[in-house]
Amino acid sequence: MFIKKNINNFTILFDSSGSIYITELGILLISDLHIGKSYSCAINGNFLPPFEIDETIEKIKSIVDFYNPKKIISLGDSFHEASTLEIIDNIYINNLNKIFKKREVIFIDGNHDAELKSKEKIDAIFKDSLKLDNFNFTHIKNSKIIDNLFEFSGHFHPKVSIISNRVTYSFKCFVLGKNFCILPSFGTYTGGLNINSNTLKKIIPQEKTVIALGKNHLIEI
Ligand SMILES: [Fe+2]
Repeated sequence: MFIKKNINNFTILFDSSGSIYITELGILLISDLHIGKSYSCAINGNFLPPFEIDETIEKIKSIVDFYNPKKIISLGDSFHEASTLEIIDNIYINNLNKIFKKREVIFIDGNHDAELKSKEKIDAIFKDSLKLDNFNFTHIKNSKIIDNLFEFSGHFHPKVSIISNRVTYSFKCFVLGKNFCILPSFGTYTGGLNINSNTLKKIIPQEKTVIALGKNHLIEI
């Protein structure tokens, strides 16, 4: 399910998976997949179940099947570290390439994967950021966004807490401002930063819309 909004005269769908679909451009946006995080943890002695890649790739497949985008843009930290494509099983790379077949795929550099090795294994273009129509696609929100641009970014893995009956629930969320949107992290093994944390308070203006990702529906706050 999704919430529909009009931004810069484009129809933007905020999907409960944490992705965004820009209808008129046929662009699917995802961010912070952190593919391979379980492999990186295992190398460091933390043996997490290594199934996070399957789940993240399956999630990408289901939204690609649903929206059938012409273009997929991943807004950085797509891979958890520079060596991810060298350490993960080739089956995952093949599965990603199968999903990407006949589509234009752009991976924006994140802080985790700016130095990614063996990029040629993935059928995609790698860029530090991308401007398209009146949109800018980047990993980390710019503090000053040029007047007529609307910017999509990731990086902060925003989360929001909602209290009900004295129980606090925490949800991944989109943060939407006048000229920017920060996407939630899409990957399975990704933590989050509360939008009321000191770090995010400095970055996000008070006037904003938060769209929380519930299990079965989206909540606009
Ligand atoms: Fe990240």
